[in-house]
Amino acid sequence: MSLNPLAPFSRYLRPYRRAVVLGLVLLLVSQGISTLIPMVLKWAIDTGTAEINPLPDRRRPGDVASERGRLPSDRDRYRVDREPRPPAPDFPAGTHPQDDRTLHAPRWGLPPWETITGTTTGDLAFYALVVALLAVLQWIVSFGMRWYLGATSRHVERDIREAYVRHIVRLPLSFFQERRVGDLMVLATNDVEAIQRFLYHAFRMTLTGLLAFVMSLALMCTLDWKLAALSLAPMPVMAVATSMVARRIRPGFRRVQEQFATLSTCIHENLMGVRVVKAFASRVREIGRFTDLNDQYVARNRDLVHLRSIFFPSTFLLNGVSMVVILWLGGLKVLEGDLTLGAFVAFNTYLLRIGRPMMMLGRMVDEHQRASASLARIEAVLAEPPQASEGTVPEAFSGEIEFRDVSFSYEDQPALQDISLKIPSGSTVAFVGRVGSGKSTLARLIPRLIHPDRGEVLIDGKPVEALSLAALRSMMGYVPQETFLFSDTIRENVALAAGGQNGTVEWATEISGLTVDLEQFPAGLETKVGERGVTLSGGQKQRTALARAVAREPRILILDDAMSSVDTRTEEQILSRLRDVMASRTTILIAHRISTVKQADLIVVLEDGRIAEQGTHQELVARGGIYAAMHRRQSLSEELDTL
Ligand SMILES: Nc1ncnc2c1ncn2[C@@H]1O[C@H](COP(=O)(O)OP(=O)(O)O)[C@@H](O)[C@H]1O
Ligand SMILES: [Mg+2]
Repeated sequence: MSLNPLAPFSRYLRPYRRAVVLGLVLLLVSQGISTLIPMVLKWAIDTGTAEINPLPDRRRPGDVASERGRLPSDRDRYRVDREPRPPAPDFPAGTHPQDDRTLHAPRWGLPPWETITGTTTGDLAFYALVVALLAVLQWIVSFGMRWYLGATSRHVERDIREAYVRHIVRLPLSFFQERRVGDLMVLATNDVEAIQRFLYHAFRMTLTGLLAFVMSLALMCTLDWKLAALSLAPMPVMAVATSMVARRIRPGFRRVQEQFATLSTCIHENLMGVRVVKAFASRVREIGRFTDLNDQYVARNRDLVHLRSIFFPSTFLLNGVSMVVILWLGGLKVLEGDLTLGAFVAFNTYLLRIGRPMMMLGRMVDEHQRASASLARIEAVLAEPPQASEGTVPEAFSGEIEFRDVSFSYEDQPALQDISLKIPSGSTVAFVGRVGSGKSTLARLIPRLIHPDRGEVLIDGKPVEALSLAALRSMMGYVPQETFLFSDTIRENVALAAGGQNGTVEWATEISGLTVDLEQFPAGLETKVGERGVTLSGGQKQRTALARAVAREPRILILDDAMSSVDTRTEEQILSRLRDVMASRTTILIAHRISTVKQADLIVVLEDGRIAEQGTHQELVARGGIYAAMHRRQSLSEELDTL
């Protein structure tokens, strides 16, 4: 642990330097006040006892202790207590006859106030007023301190979370294939919160403790430095214990956070797949899996709890030892008249105050370890290189696409091999092939969702890597195979990053055949979809996604199996409307139905990641290969359907 516990967070704290400094100054003032209060207590007690045990009664000739102005010995006190004290005459201020009382005035600084107020009750009232004023001041100051430090910690929390989310949306798709969603979620919630908690709570408490410790100790030394030194005796033990515990808490905490991430992933998957879980009656299995993970989470936490429950109470124990020692030795000193009663009370109050920081130190170490572990986890993600988004922004795209000897593998499994193909601007090229033949992979290469391992993808003759990512993607309308809609209105889902011109959304929904469906919804385009809204059918979702792609009026339209959930008749209607849109744009059409691709300018058949055949519908049918077989099979089943 570095000497400055804030060091790992300094990058995030820097913008709030002023608030932090202000908060720290207020904290300093607040601690100063708290440290002053026991001193006021001492003055109050010492002037009070001077009144109650008036000096002339106690002083006997040759009594050395009294000569030195000390408190009486217990024998004296006993005698004093036995003799009823004569009622105090009411003297006007400043004329009190016990002028030698100054001998008993507090040793520590304050003027003998009783000379001003004149009575004991007056003194008490005065000190009570001082304490009350200090308390009010303390209240104001610590409010300001909490305000500044609290706000800062929340700002830092927001900044880290924002940096994190901004970063992950820029990461390449490959990153998300390696990481689990639950894990990434936990980083944005639990881990960010651990940092906030440390920055506000633990940090404030520790600093409070540290200041209380230093200030109290300084005042304890002025009261009796030997006793003060004695009360520090447990410190070395504490220091050793703290560093030992710290070393073990960090890995323990990392294990807890990792387990929590696994647990969250499990919950996430169960919620996402709730239909499957229900449909397959796998509830019992899933609950079993969850219970195991949950139990492991408890087990890992228990290790930590174990460690902490040995550590923290032992700090109480050590403090208790100092209390006993001071009570005994300090008490003896009072009885012998070496220490005033007020000083003794103040000393014990300070002892309580320095005991807490010792415990705080342990707490701080604990929270610091948590927060640093969390920050390290977040920064590991922030260190992931984002997808390069800089690049040239061409004035206009014509939309010519070229694959040059492109190969691509997921991990070690090749998905595309040596693909070379030129797609002229404005043409429609269809890709067909078995499931897993590499069609979707090919489509993902164009908007740079993935990068070829070998070869190049070019648009208008320029490698896609050289183009600005924003420019590249804004000229593209891509309907991925898996439809995703946000929990928002249909309009927002379609307009997503579209130009936003009036009527674009309506035009796009018309083309994609969604208008008919919208008529069923009372709210039309403003219908909410997803969790809090209506549940769209697979076909409706696909048509929404299609409308979204069309609404961008893209140069290149990529439809990856975009009409698989739409019936043949509807598909034909959509296609006939799309044809106008497609006429001026380059279109990549991935489909399973021959009827969908029949009219494409070029049909490419993929087989095991390679181009097996290419040509027009007529050419391929005449060729008698894979495509012809597909065609035969589908015509046959169509005929069977019409029978
Ligand atoms: N995200 C992925 N991670 C790992 N392998 C994948 C991934 N997506 C596809 N693949 C594999 O790559 C190959 C091609 O898949 P894909 O391009 O989806 O084919 P198609 O779209 O023609 O069905 C398949 O063997 C598939 O298992
Ligand atoms: Mg696919």
